Amino acid sequence: MNEQSALPVVDPSSLPAWPALEAHRMRLADTTIRDLLADSRDDLRIDASGMSFDFSRQRVDSAVIEDLIGLADQCGVERLRDAMFAGEQINTTEGRSVLHAALRQPRTSATPGSGPLVIDGRDVNADVHEVLDRMSVFAEDVRNGQWRGSTGETITDIVNIGIGGSDLGPAMAHRALAGFVKPGLRCHFVSNVDPADLDRMLETIDPARTLIIVASKTFTTQETMANAQRMRSRMVDHLGADCVPRHFVAVSTNADAVKDFGIDLDNMFGFWDWVGGRYSMGSAIGLSTMIAIGPVNFRAMLDGFHSMDVHFTTAPAHRNVPLLMGLLSVWNRNFLDIATTAVLPYSHDLSRFPAYLQQLTMESNGKGVRRDGSPINYPTGGIYWGEPGTNGQHSFYQLLHQGTDDVASDIIILAEPTVDTKGEQDGENVRHQHDMLVANALAQASVLALGRTEAEVRGSDVPDELVAHKVMPGNRPVSVVMIPSLTPFSLGALISAYEHSVFTQGAIWQVNSFDQWGVELGKSVANGILADIESGTYNDPNVDAATRHSLHDYLRMRSSN
Ligand code: F6P
Repeated sequence: MNEQSALPVVDPSSLPAWPALEAHRMRLADTTIRDLLADSRDDLRIDASGMSFDFSRQRVDSAVIEDLIGLADQCGVERLRDAMFAGEQINTTEGRSVLHAALRQPRTSATPGSGPLVIDGRDVNADVHEVLDRMSVFAEDVRNGQWRGSTGETITDIVNIGIGGSDLGPAMAHRALAGFVKPGLRCHFVSNVDPADLDRMLETIDPARTLIIVASKTFTTQETMANAQRMRSRMVDHLGADCVPRHFVAVSTNADAVKDFGIDLDNMFGFWDWVGGRYSMGSAIGLSTMIAIGPVNFRAMLDGFHSMDVHFTTAPAHRNVPLLMGLLSVWNRNFLDIATTAVLPYSHDLSRFPAYLQQLTMESNGKGVRRDGSPINYPTGGIYWGEPGTNGQHSFYQLLHQGTDDVASDIIILAEPTVDTKGEQDGENVRHQHDMLVANALAQASVLALGRTEAEVRGSDVPDELVAHKVMPGNRPVSVVMIPSLTPFSLGALISAYEHSVFTQGAIWQVNSFDQWGVELGKSVANGILADIESGTYNDPNVDAATRHSLHDYLRMRSSN
């Protein structure tokens, strides 16, 4: 099944649930999170895939949740979800199915009674597992030293060259799962077309022991191809022209371009146009992850994704974590006028998670027209950003607490540290530091949500002139995700929860969450400007006046060699 999805497009603000939610906003205008927390709110604490999701510090009550679920119903979220999982082409502007969930299905995936999922005449599950099997063999060969470089050396360094979805997921996962990486194996991620990115990495590797993965769905992305070509010439300089087949592999959907680059198709790991770049870390784009943590751990990560996929498709709406995450984001964005969400992992190893989520959320839902092209008259895609705690506390949290804008926060806590607590000398210190970390996370969640009233400030002997400065408005919505420990399984489940939350938001807003036309124009304009730079001209009539001036400055200031 992959016919073009013909699901009706609606204006969510014209549906009955929308004015009902606006009425709730008025009704709750003077009700604070502090007031709301006086009730038990157990209905807002949900366990899924072994993690707990606590939405009790959100500015909602059960009547709001009821109407948010009503809005989801009226917007056809469930129908769109089912269409996605069934392989319908819900990415209508690109005529593509959206099947990242199929990447994490177990080998025997067919739901009893239903046949295999077939797209373009291919059995999706069979294709997915055929590539996973090839990746596993290759990953094991690299890990156990069977795969050697052109001079016979074993591989110690993996370089992933890719950008966007072909970089952020693998780079984030590599850091998050540092404790699972094979000792002695180092991974590097080169994404930026700035030559410094590649150069800094080159300073740290021995070419004879390095394997390069060129990761690009299209194999045409300017930054990736420039870095890959320069890397190839550096490797050839060191090891000779014959080194390419032993040192370069590709992950792509574009076999012709891979071949043209000089990579043997036996060393190409494919995926499919029904995997969006930002949803691709469970595909062959995860090859560096699989080599680093091993095929068994990689499978565990896919199982984590899958367990949340199953939860999303089967849990009732009131207990459905990704659905509620998405609906609460819509509530904050459209009804409480909160435009940004701070992603605050209290885990150093999750330090790239905010960057990863930025692409997932903003490339997906930063859209101004609905799926049918009709203009939108309500806010869509929120702004996501963040840093790991407690570093953020000593930086931007001041604004979160007392700034004039409301910011929502997602606080992510690990119950176990990601480093060894068993060391005889240091184990206790590690445990103590981790307790400090968690205490800080919980303190921030509490202060953001509850604030500090004037009466409380006065009650603690604060001089009159400082009282106003020490009052904390609170009432900032916070979600707390508690993860037992950061494993491949829990990482997969966490990401899948966010993916489906993004899906839910896009389905309410009626946007196509799976295209990204907004990033295309800049790419073609850059090509024109590059031609001007290389020809030394800055008076191209097609270039706007401001750009012409900047070009003039650039050509004047840069050295000519
Ligand atoms: O920046 C746009 C984009 O198309 C992203 O969606 C994608 O993840 C990235 O570029 C990289 O694309 P590719 O994998 O084709 O190199």
